[in-house]
Amino acid sequence: MTELSPRALLSLLFHGSKAVDVVTTALETGLLDALEPGPVSLRDLAARFGMQPLRLYKFLDCLESLGFLERDEPTDDINDTSYRAVPGLRDAAAATVGPASIERDRDTYPWQRLHGHLDDTLRGDLSLTEDDFSWPPKTEEQTESFERSMTVGLGPVLETFDRHADRLWSGRRRFLDVGGGAGRLADHVLSSAPGLHADVFNLPPVAPLVEETRKNSAHPDRLGFVPGDFFASPLPTGYDAMSFVRVLHDWPTPDSRRLVEKAYDALPPGGLLLICEEFRTPDRLAVQFFWSYFLIGADSAVSRLREATFYTTLLAATGFTGIEILPGPWELVVGHKPA
Ligand SMILES: C[S@@+](CC[C@H](N)C(=O)[O-])C[C@H]1O[C@@H](n2cnc3c(N)ncnc32)[C@H](O)[C@@H]1O
Repeated sequence: MTELSPRALLSLLFHGSKAVDVVTTALETGLLDALEPGPVSLRDLAARFGMQPLRLYKFLDCLESLGFLERDEPTDDINDTSYRAVPGLRDAAAATVGPASIERDRDTYPWQRLHGHLDDTLRGDLSLTEDDFSWPPKTEEQTESFERSMTVGLGPVLETFDRHADRLWSGRRRFLDVGGGAGRLADHVLSSAPGLHADVFNLPPVAPLVEETRKNSAHPDRLGFVPGDFFASPLPTGYDAMSFVRVLHDWPTPDSRRLVEKAYDALPPGGLLLICEEFRTPDRLAVQFFWSYFLIGADSAVSRLREATFYTTLLAATGFTGIEILPGPWELVVGHKPA
């Protein structure tokens, strides 16, 4: 994909709802399934999908303008034009506009309160109210809807943990997922770690959500909940592995540092600390756009995407050793308390 000029990008953004219509149609009709393996000619696509070649040609120009297609036009006959979608387009479209879209879920938050009023918001004259959004969530309804949003977006984390499961859990007995949402990750890792018990540490109002996860779990006897506030007291001991997944980026640096120090104090010698979140890259900052926008109006949520190296440096400064960045859709930063 080539980088677009600001002028070109702004044209696309201005007509963003039409672009989403194009992508949704390409996904729902099955065009993306045909385009991604490609190359496929306009003639074949039109015949296969019962579409008119000239109309489809313009539709595919729309997709190409978004940077999603490679095109070869060898003759004057548009029917000979062949196309191939960039790798991963189908999955990306499903994640964005498909039935389990995280964007649709994000769109249910009341961002309209700020829309058109960013100037006032930036000056501090307008803010989201506690009913609109509070961090951490206050009401039962906010807790449930926030944790549901979190679970929807957990895919990249689960994939990374799966990729490194053998290495992470071998010899480990007890895992604490600190700020572990409704327990989806804790439950998930149990499938690839038969000897492991996993507890979720979270604020007391999240208990019923973790209990629901436990009831639906294939390993209910190995999944538990520990209520607590990680700023109010030390982290519980008795765990030889702990994780912060999408937790540390919620807090200002001194607070994130304090949490990592608390994990160090609570872990036994040889204990493992795992940190996973959308470490800052241009791509991830773009995927985070909704929260960056919405949280302009909420000072309690810091929303600070940091590079993975920020955390490797923090772990080393805290005393962890054997620090590595393991690859995955989102990388996993690991460190060990010296034995
Ligand atoms: C952004 S969510 C991430 C949830 C989960 N780890 C995930 O990635 O899906 C942050 C989590 O931290 C929890 N949390 C916030 N403040 C907390 C506190 N003071 N003590 C314990 N947990 C807290 C929230 O309830 C929430 O589950």
